[in-house]
Amino acid sequence: MTFRAHILGAAAGGGLPQWNCGCANCNLARSGKIPSQTQSSIAVSADGTSWAVLNASPDIRQQLADVPALHPTGLRALPLSSVLVTNGDIDHVAGLLTLREMQPFMLFATQGIHEVLAANPIFDALNAKVVTRETIALETPFTLAPGLTATLFAVPGKVPLYLEGAEVKTDMMGDQTVGVELLTDETRAYYIPGCALMNDDLRQRLKGADMVFFDGTLWQDDEMVRAGLGQKTGKRMGHMSMSGPDGSIAAFVGMDIGRKIYVHMNNTNPVLRPDSAEKAEAEAAGWIIGQDGMEITS
Ligand code: MLT
Ligand code: MN
Ligand code: ZN
Repeated sequence: MTFRAHILGAAAGGGLPQWNCGCANCNLARSGKIPSQTQSSIAVSADGTSWAVLNASPDIRQQLADVPALHPTGLRALPLSSVLVTNGDIDHVAGLLTLREMQPFMLFATQGIHEVLAANPIFDALNAKVVTRETIALETPFTLAPGLTATLFAVPGKVPLYLEGAEVKTDMMGDQTVGVELLTDETRAYYIPGCALMNDDLRQRLKGADMVFFDGTLWQDDEMVRAGLGQKTGKRMGHMSMSGPDGSIAAFVGMDIGRKIYVHMNNTNPVLRPDSAEKAEAEAAGWIIGQDGMEITS
């Protein structure tokens, strides 16, 4: 079986361009000078016929339309067997509302994330008679799709923005923000679209993997502040940046990973410009800049 991952959306929440953003990248994307990117999601398969969608982005309607492998195979038959969400952020759950229409699938998440969904009655649009919500405990392997075993694990992160209280711990370890290990007979891959920092546990886990899809939100921690777009840093948002001594490029050096792919990139990230020095720097360090429509096969 060949592991296949299809990037449905390479951008972070908001997408590229973001509806209300006049930053350089968003303007370039609006005028067609750089490729637009939809919001955070990938689809994975071990057999090429049955797929799991990891995170249901607000753009999922168009994302599914754009990928022939995910089109209906009959009147109401879909090659989609399950949807897994890695946190309760809007960019990862709002697409669930599009997946109503009495379509059966498994909805996998941790207890903490299921509680967030259950507390929002609008998600009851997913009829419980056909959409089975299955709670997955951390560090417990389960079948995500035929031939594909997944395991969820805690990564440093925070609660969704809309649940933030007065005090926010941005590198909490728990079941609110998880990474996914994806195993087939031959491939060990990881999907981690949000991660506040690299710690020893995560480093040991990822070492030697065939493929890692990783949080590429920002190039630089204060990138949005510098661009005049607000006061939020990457750290405050629970995302480690690509560059710098505590960035992901440095953190992954020597980890012996087959392919490293950035996903969940914010629209301000200069790597989204095909001719940028930052993209060249990330690629020189062995990274692939994820793009909508990219398929990575093991
Ligand atoms: C994030 O990744 O930090 C969140 O998706 C932000 C948001 O909810 O807009
Ligand atoms: Mn996000
Ligand atoms: Zn922008």
